[in-house]
Amino acid sequence: MRLKEALKGALEETELKKVIKSYDVIGDVIVIKLHPDLKPKRAIIAEALHNIYPRVKTIAAVPLYSHTDELYRTRELEVIWGDENMETIHKESGCAFKVNPELVFFSPRLSYERMRIARKVLPRETIINMFSGVGCFSIVIAKMQPQTKIYSFDVNPYAYEYMKENVALNKMEGKVIPILGDVREEQRDLKSEAVGADRVLMPLPEQAHSFLPAAIRALNLDYHGDTGFIHYYDVSVSARSVRGACDLFTASAQKAKDIVSSTFGGTLSVEIEEKRVVRSVAPRKYHVVLDLRVVKTSAQ
Ligand SMILES: C[S@@+](CC[C@H](N)C(=O)[O-])C[C@H]1O[C@@H](n2cnc3c(N)ncnc32)[C@H](O)[C@@H]1O
Repeated sequence: MRLKEALKGALEETELKKVIKSYDVIGDVIVIKLHPDLKPKRAIIAEALHNIYPRVKTIAAVPLYSHTDELYRTRELEVIWGDENMETIHKESGCAFKVNPELVFFSPRLSYERMRIARKVLPRETIINMFSGVGCFSIVIAKMQPQTKIYSFDVNPYAYEYMKENVALNKMEGKVIPILGDVREEQRDLKSEAVGADRVLMPLPEQAHSFLPAAIRALNLDYHGDTGFIHYYDVSVSARSVRGACDLFTASAQKAKDIVSSTFGGTLSVEIEEKRVVRSVAPRKYHVVLDLRVVKTSAQ
């Protein structure tokens, strides 16, 4: 039964309209956005959700207009039913991820995107995941292509600790290499070991643009072939509904190309191999991804 249906009779019509239909089921934890006017009704909403998912151990609410931590991308959660400890194991694409959504970023809504990227990876690639969280993209890729080596950075110490646990849980030692710290600082120490990456993942839509030059340098195109791939995430705001005749990608593509040309001049060319809307994050606001093919040109 759907949540709104389950709440009929328990909430007023005006209150029902404020219930957010979708919520995240992360292992045995549910995270639901809560309109501020529904705060006094949170126990009723939690009970309805628990009736739909009797096996969950925790139901947590995130205020609808809550602040997201700029660096770690975490939100403030309030347990409205069940166990205060939100640590759980989430299963996806044959992998298991131990997470605590209170301490680390985690979204089950990215499962398709993780698999989409994994399908593009070729055997024996060297990959840099700049913003790895608890290691989901890296582990899904390594499961699909066991001969890859994925250097996986995150600045959040909790994410790093969970990533190490998840590497062990999924038996990915030596394939997924967790690294704690700001990727811009830590990547420098990699140079001697990883001559260059074949592919760089940038799953931090709000800030990826400012890391694009570092991502391109990580491809090390002077020494490591003449082509590399970058999965570049961005935030796109549309004036109209996505079904309308508007292009959600033009501004992101232009921004990426401008950054590349102002940093590297004519030495590189950038083509867009594929583009897609990853998810909607607010009315008319979307996370988008551009798969960039970066090629060293002869003009050097
Ligand atoms: C949107 S989350 C992506 C997590 C992960 N890719 C996933 O699918 O779950 C972005 C992550 O980037 C990390 N982060 C932010 N700035 C960073 C930086 N400068 N260096 C390394 N990690 C960073 C955050 O801690 C957060 O875990």
